[in-house]
Amino acid sequence: DRGPDMRPDLAGRKVVVSAGGTREYLDPVRFLGNRSSGLQGYALARTAAARGAHVTLVSANVSLADPAGVSVVRVETTDQLREAVVAATATADAVVMAAAPADFRPVSVSEAKIKKADDGSAPAIELVQNPDILAEISRDRAREGAVVVGFAAETGDASGSVLDLGRAKLARKGCDLLVVNDVSGGAVFGSTDNEAVILGADGAAVEVPHGTKTALAHVIWDEVARRFP
Ligand code: CTP
Ligand code: CA
Repeated sequence: DRGPDMRPDLAGRKVVVSAGGTREYLDPVRFLGNRSSGLQGYALARTAAARGAHVTLVSANVSLADPAGVSVVRVETTDQLREAVVAATATADAVVMAAAPADFRPVSVSEAKIKKADDGSAPAIELVQNPDILAEISRDRAREGAVVVGFAAETGDASGSVLDLGRAKLARKGCDLLVVNDVSGGAVFGSTDNEAVILGADGAAVEVPHGTKTALAHVIWDEVARRFP
C-alpha cells in the first residue's frame, strides 16, 4: 500500500467503479451468470476512497462488505448496470468498468417458473446481445476529459495473443485504458491476486507484476490520475 503519508491525489475527484457479474433471468428463480467475484472492483473502490476520491460503486451480485466511505448502488442485470453507470458517469472524472456484464440475455423472461416437460425434452433458450456499456460511455463522454477504463480477461486463441486481443479490444471499445488479464486456466476468478498489462490508447503498456488486486488497483489509479486534463 501507499502508506498513510501519501497525498490524497484523488481528492475532489468523482469516480465510478463497476464490480461483480450481472445476472440475466430466465424465470423468477433462474439466471445466466458468470464467475466474477467483484474483488478487483471492490479493491478499486476502496483504494480510490483511500486516495480521497468520491466513489460510486455499482455492484452486481457481489457478496462482499460495502467499502467504508463509498456509495454503493446494487444492480442485478446488465440493463440495470448500464442505467446506474450511465447516470453516475454524468458527473464523473473517471469510470472503471471492472464488472463482468453478461454478454447475452434471454429474449424473454418467463413470469412463472419454467417446468420440466414429461417427455424428457428441454427448452431452447433464445438469446439477444446486451448493450455494450464500456463502448457507450467511451463514445458519449458525459464530461470532457473523463478517463474511461475497461478490463479484458483473455486467453489468446488462433486469431492472436492475449496482448493482440487486448489492443484490438481497446480500439474497438474506444476507452483510454484497458487492463488486460491473462486468464488461461481460469486462475484469476475469486483469487485475491492478479497480474496484468495496462494498455493505453496513447500507446502505453504498463506491465503490472503478479501481486494483490489492491496493488493492481493502485497502479490503475496512478495511470488514471496522470491522464486527468
Ligand atoms: N463490458 C461492458 N458491457 C458489456 C460487456 C462488457 O461494458 N455488455 C465491459 C466490461 O466491463 C469490460 C470490457 O467491456 O470492462 C471488456 O469486457 P469483455 O467481456 O472482455 O468484452 P466483450 O466486448 O464482451 O468481448 P468478448 O466477446 O471477448 O466477451
Ligand atoms: Ca464479454
